[in-house]
Amino acid sequence: MKVSVIGGGGLVGSMAAFSLQMGKIASDISIIDANRQVAEGVALDLLQGASLIADQRIIAEDMSGVANSDVVVITAGLRRKPEESRLDLINRNVDLFMALLGEAKKAGLRKESYLVVVSNPVDILTHLAVKQSGLDWRRVIGLGTQLDTARFCSHIARRIQVPATQVRALLLGEHGDSMVPIWSSASVGGLPLEQWPGWNPQAAADTFEETKTAGAKMISLKGGSGFAVGVSIREVVESILLDSRKILPVSTLQQGLYDIKDVCLSIPTEIGTNGARKQIELPLTSKEKIGLQNSARILRGIIDQVENRLSKGPIPISQPTDVKNPQVASPDVTKSQVADANTKPLGHPPIEMRTQPARPAWKRT
Ligand SMILES: NC(=O)c1ccc[n+]([C@@H]2O[C@H](COP(=O)([O-])OP(=O)(O)OC[C@H]3O[C@@H](n4cnc5c(N)ncnc54)[C@H](O)[C@@H]3O)[C@@H](O)[C@H]2O)c1
Repeated sequence: MKVSVIGGGGLVGSMAAFSLQMGKIASDISIIDANRQVAEGVALDLLQGASLIADQRIIAEDMSGVANSDVVVITAGLRRKPEESRLDLINRNVDLFMALLGEAKKAGLRKESYLVVVSNPVDILTHLAVKQSGLDWRRVIGLGTQLDTARFCSHIARRIQVPATQVRALLLGEHGDSMVPIWSSASVGGLPLEQWPGWNPQAAADTFEETKTAGAKMISLKGGSGFAVGVSIREVVESILLDSRKILPVSTLQQGLYDIKDVCLSIPTEIGTNGARKQIELPLTSKEKIGLQNSARILRGIIDQVENRLSKGPIPISQPTDVKNPQVASPDVTKSQVADANTKPLGHPPIEMRTQPARPAWKRT
């Protein structure tokens, strides 16, 4: 099975490729990047360790490599700056992502392949990929809160001094500020976390805060997440390729569970052959469910702004200058609009989700 990583020359993409190599599952790993030289370097670096790891074909390619790929992982994007919210990236990343999807389709992206979207803002880009890629929605999977959940479990474990693999705790909703900690089902070695000696509301609040700000901290410490996001991506890709059917907190197009529709966000989802095989509704506390619906409302607000903007004109062709110039921004979706969407009053229900979103221009062509 072949996995292509678009953006594989970058920090996240190269770590994903290395994790996939270590996982020994894919027969072929392809590194695709606008910066061809770096892509060649990453592929060669991986290849040089192959004799100690596994017999895989590892190459750098241009976009034509997606045509015979089983899984296409998209990590190409512009990095979040310190203090910048993930959703603030929208202006800089949507156009890049849309152009890239167009290129992948032109290169022969197959309906039978899977798209794993990692670039931020991941829930918004996953939604755009569902609408634009031509793939069944089940085959378009955003990394969502998979990395946040991994961090959450590890941070809880460190706080109560237990092995990290013993902790099971979920973060759901948006991969961003409105993500929701699911304390009601958090456990350690099968026992309820809430009853664990030394665990208390302050520990919970501090751990959640530490997790929520982990992405920004990684950017300020070392330029961005690498190892943890790499293994998080591998978990999703392996579950697809091996048909493991793991229940993962990934971002998929919501179909009505938790009264949420027509928005991509993370709920527990069975991942295997055919992609998102099953979305799962758990009994949550009312606070948790309201939190999830709040994430949906925030994301829906952003999608509306994005679709509105995209309906006004053609998507610019991605240029290397876009990649190099992080100041490229769309004038139509401003930071304050994003902030407005983030601060909409909670309230519940109804969540206003359009079942028939406006058809943007790129859909018509
Ligand atoms: N979903 C998550 O949990 C999560 C976690 C960490 C980072 N991210 C996101 O991943 C993305 C990448 O982060 P990074 O730290 O690897 O950034 P990076 O700058 O190190 O790498 C991005 C790569 O994308 C490439 N690229 C840009 N435009 C391209 C195009 N049109 N075609 C092919 N390649 C292109 C660049 O050349 C670069 O190598 C960002 O959007 C970041 O926010 C997501």
